[in-house]
Amino acid sequence: MLKGGLAADNCLEMTWNKDEAPAAGSAGMEPAVEAQDLTKIYHGNIRAVDAITFSIRRGEIFGLLGPNGAGKTTTIKMIVTLSNATSGRLQVFGVDIFRSPVAVRGMLGYVPQSISVDADLSGYENLLIFSKLSFVPKKDRAKRIWDALDYMGLSDRAHDLVRHYSGGMMRRLEIAQAVVNRPKVLLLDEPTIGLDPSSKMHVWKSIKQLRQEFGTTVLMTTHDMGEADELCDRIAIMSQGKIAALGSPEDLKRGVGGDVVTLHLSSPHLDVLIPREIGNTVHSEAKMIQVLTRNGEEAIPTITDFFRSQKIGIESISVHRPNLDDVFMKYAGRRLHDEEAAGAVSARRDIVRHMK
Ligand SMILES: Nc1ncnc2c1ncn2[C@@H]1O[C@H](COP(=O)(O)OP(=O)(O)O)[C@@H](O)[C@H]1O
Ligand SMILES: [Mg+2]
Repeated sequence: MLKGGLAADNCLEMTWNKDEAPAAGSAGMEPAVEAQDLTKIYHGNIRAVDAITFSIRRGEIFGLLGPNGAGKTTTIKMIVTLSNATSGRLQVFGVDIFRSPVAVRGMLGYVPQSISVDADLSGYENLLIFSKLSFVPKKDRAKRIWDALDYMGLSDRAHDLVRHYSGGMMRRLEIAQAVVNRPKVLLLDEPTIGLDPSSKMHVWKSIKQLRQEFGTTVLMTTHDMGEADELCDRIAIMSQGKIAALGSPEDLKRGVGGDVVTLHLSSPHLDVLIPREIGNTVHSEAKMIQVLTRNGEEAIPTITDFFRSQKIGIESISVHRPNLDDVFMKYAGRRLHDEEAAGAVSARRDIVRHMK
């Protein structure tokens, strides 16, 4: 059920037990979410989402990965019917979202990017209000709330005011809120933004458990490559409103091919051209070059010889297997820099600080 509440007669009552959970990747059944040429243009000229096509399997954890402004939140908002698509097709479990938005909302749980719980209420009270808004039958409410709190590891703090929760606990409460109505698809927008590493891992564990125990399909956005790598079965890498690449983290990394050799130089290299037989320069800064080669260790002597011949000193040299940043670089032509997401991180930190 979507936050904000819907008419009771339009509310689909979702079951949420292990026996009835849809099997992951069941053959012959429609996907959990299917988007075709989905497009959102703001104010007639801002192409936030540009004809993206993807399909999320049942029981899958699917990630939208990309820097700030890539179009991740807009995509999620179209699926949860908070934003009207400009064009394209969108279905959730075979139900057309434009024809039957209310039926679709009934299948969804949504945790927005910004904080959505009330700091002046207890965790239990937050969930109680939400369960009323989402028409959880009165007789089931207490059990559903305690189940959700238990599930998110918050039972012992249920009656504390949320303002005394840590950022990680608030995020877990938001997920508890989103699952109180037992959604078939859970949509999480930047679920761990601004959280410390241990809270982050706690949220990761909860997301994995939801999928494992109840077959919940999860669509999450993140700008954190480690998070996408850790959690997601498949990832769509978004850049400037488009899907630049889509696949499992392993397939995407394998698709980059070879090894990445990173050279830190003692002086600016003035656009030195590395011969093609050594490898392709995939990233270059004043005193740093990254070269994609077939076999990094074998290429090192040739690379050092080359730089010696150019009279450019090497301070350090390292080799790594391609990571998702290299995948992003390959398909989007630039790095998924941390600072691109810094605005969003500080925004959430500010909100958390505000609530204390
Ligand atoms: N309500 C809006 N009005 C106008 N432009 C918007 C609005 N929301 C988002 N955008 C623009 O759409 C693009 C994608 O934004 P968003 O979906 O929030 O990206 P992300 O979640 O990946 O950071 C950005 O250029 C952003 O400025
Ligand atoms: Mg966003």
